[in-house]
Amino acid sequence: MTVVGPFGLRVRDQALEADVQAGLAAVEAGLLDATKSEVPFITEAAQHLVSAGGKRFRPLLVMLAAQFGDPDAPGVVPAAVVVELTHLATLYHDDVMDEADVRRGVDSANTRWGNSVAVLTGDFLFARASHILADLGPEAVRIQAEAFERLVTGQILETAGPRDGRDPVDHYMDVLGGKTGSLVAVSGRFGALMAGADESVVDILTQYGERLGIAFQLADDVLDIASDSHESGKTPGTDLREGIPTLPVLHLRARAAAGDDPQDKELVELLDGDLGDDDRLAEALRRLRAHPALEQARRDTVRYAQEARATLAPLPECYAKAALEELCDAVVHRAG
Ligand code: IPE
Ligand code: IPE
Ligand code: MG
Ligand code: MG
Repeated sequence: MTVVGPFGLRVRDQALEADVQAGLAAVEAGLLDATKSEVPFITEAAQHLVSAGGKRFRPLLVMLAAQFGDPDAPGVVPAAVVVELTHLATLYHDDVMDEADVRRGVDSANTRWGNSVAVLTGDFLFARASHILADLGPEAVRIQAEAFERLVTGQILETAGPRDGRDPVDHYMDVLGGKTGSLVAVSGRFGALMAGADESVVDILTQYGERLGIAFQLADDVLDIASDSHESGKTPGTDLREGIPTLPVLHLRARAAAGDDPQDKELVELLDGDLGDDDRLAEALRRLRAHPALEQARRDTVRYAQEARATLAPLPECYAKAALEELCDAVVHRAG
């Protein structure tokens, strides 16, 4: 049994492990190639976060999904590069939106070079992703365009907040499906599609990716509160400071509104106050970490991951299916 990637994902077959590692190595080479520009400063800015690390979760999913067809088919690695480049570009933009100063354990691009460079570098990465995508054919371009539209819609809906009368948790789940489920779904879909898997398998891996992506983002939102920056490579409490409602906070608010625990109401007041103040933010984090609302959000995360796992049921038993099942647990129990 071998462990693949920072998730501690276990792969129970050496041939599969070798295949996935070879695919991921080819993706690294593809990423470096795709982020080179004739302008040295663009190369530096574009490679800044590539070399800083990252989990390569989406390329990993592409590789595992490709096992349901021919994993050596020529479109598999480029599709994984497209998905990671797109993800990377959204990180450059997201850190501008969220005023995040640290990403992948290094200065965010906006901290290092300012918002304009960060936004334009993100655009450059989208351009490079489109270039590779063009060679994968019009169907791939359409799939990616639709997912990208959903992703951007999710980010905008998060910024806009729920319209009057809309349940905030329903709104939040829509945001997660858009901003994260969309691209993780494409990862599962591209892997299977490029490998020439049956249409029914492509559909299953698309649905799986959507649910896994939502579980992944739920876990990310729990980690914003529960993890430290060594593990996540990000600044804890960024969502809280930016006033981005995440599930633990939504659960807390519901409890505070329905119950009569004065401490819940006090914590809500703290969250509604100025969390630009480091001491207040640290206090909010300390109290949320000990609050049952966080545990409630963790349970919801596990439930989503179980739903993702259940979508795999019709697939034939094989090592790749077992790895995808394990991925559901790994995503939920990750530390960063
Ligand atoms: C961060 O994604 C943004 C989310 C959708 C939660 P990852 O957690 O995959 O970030 P990297 O690629 O490992 O840095
Ligand atoms: C990231 O969402 C989603 C996209 C980049 C599309 P978050 O803002 O929650 O992710 P982190 O926590 O900064 O990685
Ligand atoms: Mg963010
Ligand atoms: Mg964000």
